[in-house]
Amino acid sequence: MRAYRVTEIDISGIRKMFELAGEDVINLAIGEPDFPIPEEAKEAIYQALREDFTHYTSNKGIIELREALAEKLKKENGVDAGAEEIIITSGASEALHLAFQAFINNGEEVLIPNPGFVSYDPLVKLAQGKSVYYPLRFEDGFIPDIEDIKKRMSSKTKMIVLNSPSNPTGAVYPEEIIKAIAEIAEDYNALLVSDEVYEKIIYEGEHISPGAFSDNVITVNGFSKSYAMTGLRVGYLSAGDELLEEMLKVHQYIQASVNSTAQRAALAALGSKRFIENMVGELRERREIILKLLGGIERVRVNRAGGAFYVFADFSAYGDSQYLATELVRAGVVVTSGTAFGSLGEGFLRFSYATSRGNIKEGVGKLKGYLEDKI
Ligand SMILES: Cc1ncc(COP(=O)(O)O)c(C=O)c1O
Repeated sequence: MRAYRVTEIDISGIRKMFELAGEDVINLAIGEPDFPIPEEAKEAIYQALREDFTHYTSNKGIIELREALAEKLKKENGVDAGAEEIIITSGASEALHLAFQAFINNGEEVLIPNPGFVSYDPLVKLAQGKSVYYPLRFEDGFIPDIEDIKKRMSSKTKMIVLNSPSNPTGAVYPEEIIKAIAEIAEDYNALLVSDEVYEKIIYEGEHISPGAFSDNVITVNGFSKSYAMTGLRVGYLSAGDELLEEMLKVHQYIQASVNSTAQRAALAALGSKRFIENMVGELRERREIILKLLGGIERVRVNRAGGAFYVFADFSAYGDSQYLATELVRAGVVVTSGTAFGSLGEGFLRFSYATSRGNIKEGVGKLKGYLEDKI
């Protein structure tokens, strides 16, 4: 009954962990900021409803939002995209889907990070492409090694996926690495998909968009992380007009247009700079708390990553990641097994600190209690 392409993919490992979790557990597996959306965004939705702004919008998205994003991309990212070179999508998730559906042919290769965001490989498979993993190593601070990428390029390579700041590692890639990867993509006439959803959540380092120095880049971003708007499902992509037209065809038929009121909310959110400052300020404090707590556990290696809201810590001294994560749920704390993000996640656990300081302390306390019982 099932189509071949869905037999190739499975339900996300993260969802499975949530299903195991009972009422009383502390959740350190959350992939979304625990902040309410900006007040301006709420007000924009109420206003949109009062105006009956509840119909289809232009397929590409409301022009005011695309114009505001074109300005933002130019000013903050150095990406020269006009409003016509932007599509508003249903989250960054849809933007990634459009990029893969529009450009990957059967059997063509896509370089994706390992460990990397859970959706990349299934989305490549849905497009009937083939994932080729480039490793990210603890020893390198989870920054890609250019030689690893070069070695994996071939005449079959259609696309490279880059994600800085990274989920699950939090690593913020330096400019020279991003430039070098953009050059490799150009040399092989491959597309570079740059997933920048954590761009605003940076504590050390600087966000660099490859779209600032290369034309064959599809820049993917969204409002889920920067403005805590996960449930409103607004993302966007920008690319040169020829690339954009192909992705627009897919978007038109699978989505038509994004929720009209949510687009208004996104436009209002862009104007609320203090929101990001406050959120990142609080996340910065939590980051120090969790790094200190995890760093104090014997035989655990912790990487001080510059961005996102995750710590990807090496627990290999305590056994198999999936087993450990399952045991921890029973001990009252949900974390994500590193293997949910690829084979090189073995030995690692991902901790999200997008939760209260109290939960962080209690959750890591439960983890310590479990480990001490084992020693
Ligand atoms: C790296 C990365 N890209 C994309 C997404 C999808 O975000 P959205 O809610 O905008 O679809 C996520 C969400 O966790 C993510 O971590």
